[in-house]
Amino acid sequence: MSNSNSLSQKGKAASENPMRIDLEVYFDAMDNIYHTKDNPTGTFPMNVAENQLCWEMLKEKMQGISGKEEIPDWVTSYGDSSGVLSFREAIASYYSDFLMNHTVDPETLALSVGATSVIEMTAFLLADPGDTAVIPAPSYPVYTGDIGVFPSIKRYDLQTHSDIGELKDGIPLQISQLEKAKKEIEASGSRFKMLILTSPDNPTGGIYSKEQQEEVADWCIANHIHLIVNEIYGLSLIDTEDPEVSGDYGKHLKFYSFGNLMNKKKSAYLHHWYSFSKDLGISGFRIGVVHTYNEDFIQAYKNVGLSHGISNHTQWLLQEVLNDKAFMNTYIDSYQKALNQSYKIVRSTLQKLALRYSPSHGSLFVWMDLSEFLQKKTQQGENDLWLKVYEETKILLTPSNGFGHKQKGLYRLVISSFKHDDLRVAMERFSKFVLQQRAEK
Ligand SMILES: Cc1ncc(COP(=O)(O)O)c(C=O)c1O
Repeated sequence: MSNSNSLSQKGKAASENPMRIDLEVYFDAMDNIYHTKDNPTGTFPMNVAENQLCWEMLKEKMQGISGKEEIPDWVTSYGDSSGVLSFREAIASYYSDFLMNHTVDPETLALSVGATSVIEMTAFLLADPGDTAVIPAPSYPVYTGDIGVFPSIKRYDLQTHSDIGELKDGIPLQISQLEKAKKEIEASGSRFKMLILTSPDNPTGGIYSKEQQEEVADWCIANHIHLIVNEIYGLSLIDTEDPEVSGDYGKHLKFYSFGNLMNKKKSAYLHHWYSFSKDLGISGFRIGVVHTYNEDFIQAYKNVGLSHGISNHTQWLLQEVLNDKAFMNTYIDSYQKALNQSYKIVRSTLQKLALRYSPSHGSLFVWMDLSEFLQKKTQQGENDLWLKVYEETKILLTPSNGFGHKQKGLYRLVISSFKHDDLRVAMERFSKFVLQQRAEK
């Protein structure tokens, strides 16, 4: 029986608004997925940010642990609602070894079920309903729901550039743009309470330089605005010095973890998000991490975090994986090589087709310009083209609807959802589509 009026106002809104607009088509595509022998005409769902590149390695490691090691008795108890200490220690050590350049204190970490939950908890604890979070556009569409549904925080899409061509040297975020956003938000009766940066970025693959992060952090601290940098793609890095791709970049920016800056400044206004969903390709494990030197924030997280707590068995299993340093070194090395190869397969296709894209510094994406094929430069026109690509190639991209940028005709392609041979097949299909569209014009 359907009666959305039986729900609360938020419940009614939840029943009417899907988490993302491409889910229905995605489930359709997942039912008919490509397989080289069994289903050569099948689909390529390349719209969900999943990393399938090195699961076999992790699976073998996890099966080894589950087969050989005794499950500790503590997994049956509630434990610390911000994550058990031994797992936070393992993550702190992983941060120190791979992401940041200093020793991280496990007491500065709090965990919950995926970055999704960490984002929601952070917004809930740092801002009041009706406050605004500023996010440079284009950006991850699901932020809107993460900060909006439970915490009731508004999203402001900051336009840092007008054309994809301006992204080759990172994301052109400037203090003057933040000042302007602040004035606009205050004039509308709200408060600019949070600034959310994603580095490497979803969908553009851009990063923020060390200097840029420092300048923005100082501005935020001076204005009592919380700056949170989401480094969920922090180890999914592209080697911009590789001769095959190096010509795409003006400056060769190096990824610099915001955690390093936080360690220097030790401010209550600076925070960092991470999750194991992307770099380790285990989104189904649901492990998200917030790192902060704000002690009250950590205490609040412990006090109200139980509804978002991660299964202790999952925490134990991943802690055993992370503590095997030799394995982790090999895994990350293999993963980064595989990711770079995937990127080169997609990039060389776009180059040959003379399609414009944002040269990636990291992430699981290529953000590309298909505007020449739009019938209408509207959101409807974008959706029509998105479905046309899917109908004719069985490749499912993500349309830019919800990413918050004004330029029309841009699409996101996930480069890590298929192994290299399959990815090549997808790129062949995509090339044929583009050439045919041009021939028909
Ligand atoms: C920028 C960003 N943040 C958060 C998430 C959600 O991550 P999780 O699976 O850890 O909830 C994603 C997933 O695509 C993402 O791209």
